[in-house]
Amino acid sequence: MKKVNIAGREVFPIGLGTMNMGDKAATFDQEVAAIRTGLDNGVQLIDTAEMYGSGNAEKLVGSAIQPYTREDVFLVSKVLPSNASKKNLPVSLDQSLKRLETDYLDLYLLHWQEDIPLEETVEALEKARNQGKIKAWGVSNLDVDDLDYVIDLPGGENCKANQVRYNIANRGIEFDLVPMMNKYHMPVIAYSPIDRGDSFGANLTKQNVLKEIAEKHEASVFQILLAWSIRNGNTIAIPQSSNPDHVLHNIEAADISLTAEDLQEIDTVYPEPVSKQRLVLW
Ligand SMILES: NC(=O)c1ccc[n+]([C@@H]2O[C@H](COP(=O)([O-])OP(=O)(O)OC[C@H]3O[C@@H](n4cnc5c(N)ncnc54)[C@H](OP(=O)(O)O)[C@@H]3O)[C@@H](O)[C@H]2O)c1
Repeated sequence: MKKVNIAGREVFPIGLGTMNMGDKAATFDQEVAAIRTGLDNGVQLIDTAEMYGSGNAEKLVGSAIQPYTREDVFLVSKVLPSNASKKNLPVSLDQSLKRLETDYLDLYLLHWQEDIPLEETVEALEKARNQGKIKAWGVSNLDVDDLDYVIDLPGGENCKANQVRYNIANRGIEFDLVPMMNKYHMPVIAYSPIDRGDSFGANLTKQNVLKEIAEKHEASVFQILLAWSIRNGNTIAIPQSSNPDHVLHNIEAADISLTAEDLQEIDTVYPEPVSKQRLVLW
C-alpha cells in the first residue's frame, strides 16, 4: 500500500484515532496494547486532542509510545477553539506535550473554529512551529471558504492538513474541498471512517452491495469502508479502536485493492456529490 505524504513525511494510510480512550483505569492496559498493536504493524500516525477525556487520551498515547523511537511515530494533537489564541495556545500546547511525554508534535491542528480570529490562531501556530514545538500545523472541520482564508493569511501556506469527517456515507467533500486540498498537496485526515462503528445510522454493515464486495475480497464491511476511504492515495483514515484485534483487522484493510467494478457498484448506492454539500461534522 502506497504511503501518504503529510507535512513532508510518508506515512501509512491508516492511523489510529483515540477519542473516548484513556478514560477508564480498567481498560487502560488494553488500550495501550491497541495502540502498540498499531505501531507494531506499520501504523505511524496517532490522532489525539486536548479535548479527548480532558487530556486522558493524550496521557494514554504518551504511555503507549514510550518504548518506541519517537521519529517512528507521527503524533497529531488538536487545540480547542477556545484555547486557540496567542495567549492560550502556547499553554495548551505545553500541556499536551507534557501529557504526551514528548517535546514536539508532528502536526498540531485547530480542532474547529469558533470566535478567535483565524489570523490570531495562525500566528500562534507559526510561532510554535518556529520554536520547534510542532513540526507542522493544520486545521480540522474547515470547509472550502475558511480553508482558503487560512491559506491566504501570512504563513497560511504552511497549513499542511485538514481533518474532516469522510466515509462512504459522507462524500460531500469530494465535490470541492478535496480538489482544493489536492491543489495545495494537503492530505485529508478522514475521521469517523467507519461511521463510528456504523453507529451513526447509515447501516453500512447491512448494505448488500458492501456485503457482497466484502465477501468477494474475503474481508469485512469495515475493511471495505477503510480501503475505500484511502483508495486515492491522498487520505489517511484514522479509525478508533480500543481492541487490539480490531486494530489489526483495520490495518489489514490497507492491503485491499478495490477494483473499478467495486468502485462503480459503490457509486450506484453512494454516489459522488454533484453539487456543493455542507461539511458534515461529528
Ligand atoms: N476532528 C474532529 O472533529 C474529529 C471528530 C470525530 C473523530 N475524530 C478522530 O477520528 C477518530 C475516529 O473517528 P470515530 O472515533 O468518530 O469513529 P470510527 O473510527 O469511525 O469508529 C470508531 C468505533 O468503531 C469501532 N471499531 C473500530 N474498528 C472496528 C472493527 N474492526 N470492528 C468492529 N468495530 C470497530 C470502535 O469500537 P472498538 O473500540 O470496540 O473497536 C469504535 O466504537 C477519533 O477517535 C478521533 O481521533 C476527530
